[in-house]
Amino acid sequence: MKKTPLVFLHGFPFNSSCWDKQVEHFSEHKIFAPDLRGHRQGPTGPGPWFIHDFSADLKQLLDQSGVDRVVLCGLSMGGYVALHFAKEHPERVAGLVLCDTRADADGNEAKDKRHATARKIESEGLDQFAEEFSKNVLAEMHRTSSLQKKLAGMIRGNKPAAVALSLGALASRRDSTEFLPGVTCPTLVLVGDQDKITPPALSQVLADKIPGAVMHVIRGAGHLSNMEEPEEFNRRIEEFLRRLN
Ligand code: MLT
Repeated sequence: MKKTPLVFLHGFPFNSSCWDKQVEHFSEHKIFAPDLRGHRQGPTGPGPWFIHDFSADLKQLLDQSGVDRVVLCGLSMGGYVALHFAKEHPERVAGLVLCDTRADADGNEAKDKRHATARKIESEGLDQFAEEFSKNVLAEMHRTSSLQKKLAGMIRGNKPAAVALSLGALASRRDSTEFLPGVTCPTLVLVGDQDKITPPALSQVLADKIPGAVMHVIRGAGHLSNMEEPEEFNRRIEEFLRRLN
């Protein structure tokens, strides 16, 4: 049977190389793992940017590639884009994998923090932010690892102005909570047990509200469960894909 194409959407402010272990593992599928808007080689353009634009970029990529239906796997910001896309184009989504993400929007405190971070990055560049953020996303045991250095390098590889525009898009994203009961495709929810950015309780909301969703907590992983514990992450997706076919 023909395998459904897979789309992997990375988190802020990294790039598609986050998915190297998945691209290799699922090589029998047609795979799209794009750099998202403003990240490395991703689409760009004048701001402001909204998650709507990230979702439109994905639609354009699939349309241009002649691909109709996909399994959409998004981590954190990639999950915001996946939920937005699934609401706008449900007929294009055969399955959803929501990883280390959340449905709700930023509260005022989070919006203020994004604003301050964007301004700081514009004036001081990405070095300090890259060091701090790359540590925050990882579980304790990975914080001094080569993975942390790789992540910091990915962040520094972006343009400060593009990271600032992406922060604006994150701050202005929709609250998707009300949409969750309307998700019609099979859904898998994955989260690291040590994810401090989008802790497991937020994934539980996704799993509770999306009809028939299955959730797994990945032990030993922080916010980047696909990179920190790739074997279990891939195994869970494999099980999910088997149920889809
Ligand atoms: C991400 O990992 O994509 C970001 O941490 C998401 C966010 O800050 O809301």
